[in-house]
Amino acid sequence: MTLLDRLVVRTLPLVPKPIVRKVASRYVAGETLEEAVSLVRRLNAEGCLATLDVLGEDTERPQDADRTVAEYARALDAIARERLDANISVKLTALALKRDPARCRAGFARIVAAARGHGNFVRIDMEDSTVTEETIRIFEEFHGRGEPVGLVLQAYLRRTARDAARAASLRANVRVCKGIYVEPPEIAYQDRGEIRERYAESVERLLQDGCYVGIATHDPPLVERALAAVARLHLTPDRYEFQMLLGVASDLRRRLVSAGHRLRVYVPYGEAWHAYSVRRLQENPAIAGHVVKALLTGGR
Ligand code: FDA
Repeated sequence: MTLLDRLVVRTLPLVPKPIVRKVASRYVAGETLEEAVSLVRRLNAEGCLATLDVLGEDTERPQDADRTVAEYARALDAIARERLDANISVKLTALALKRDPARCRAGFARIVAAARGHGNFVRIDMEDSTVTEETIRIFEEFHGRGEPVGLVLQAYLRRTARDAARAASLRANVRVCKGIYVEPPEIAYQDRGEIRERYAESVERLLQDGCYVGIATHDPPLVERALAAVARLHLTPDRYEFQMLLGVASDLRRRLVSAGHRLRVYVPYGEAWHAYSVRRLQENPAIAGHVVKALLTGGR
């Protein structure tokens, strides 16, 4: 990233919402379920699977948590009705994990029951380190009851090697990502090379131990290392999938699909697009150009 890119990353929370919305529109399907469904239909036609995410996190009002639960139920109905090849990804703080854990568990149980009823699957996204342990416990609780749930591990956390062993002992379905939240050096690796190394180790270990692994990265060297591990372990394409975010690395995505690998696109939608969009923009290596252009054209 250039100096200007880094400056824009830091000041992004001050950029007016219409500008953020304009620049980040490629990362979000839209505000409605109908927009998300039509995008998933297109992705399925291109040979990609999808996971639907109802945007929102760290809910303060109980009625918002309940609304999110209802929206996930609607999304699961739509996936079944439209015969889409898609599952869902859920952030537990959007169900009030931080403020009302009992409400969160009850809401999550309703979502999981709806998914089970449709023969579908629920991935629990991983959020900041204040909720890592609780998120893993909730995953273990539901997984222990035979529910169709999966976990996410973040390679940047120092604890992840232990969590990967824990997940491997359950033969869990695990998405591995680098990790997006800002965490202090005591608990998270900061060096990009070190994070890459830990990422590759976790993926290899989980694959080797018989877990179904979601390899969630757009980083070409990590994709190559995962492919090498898959070949070395003689794994068939039903043992793993690549996962990418909507609006990112579409060339790499197409290459993997043409080579016969399963590839799932993370499709967020909903009214609470701002926090997610800011995180995505902060990761875009060419962010300054996009934001400056949008500022000059007034977000049109
Ligand atoms: P890296 O950030 O190094 O990106 C590699 C390359 O990809 C870049 O050089 C660039 O070319 C391209 N790129 C990446 N991001 C881009 C962007 N926004 N715009 C344009 N180009 C971009 N995190 C988390 O903490 N909890 C979670 O539950 C999840 N869930 C999740 C699901 C899925 C399907 C994915 C792909 C990612 C997540 N993440 C996540 C986010 C993840 O932790 C990480 O922040 C991003 O994937 C970026 O990391 P990469 O591995 O792609 O490497």
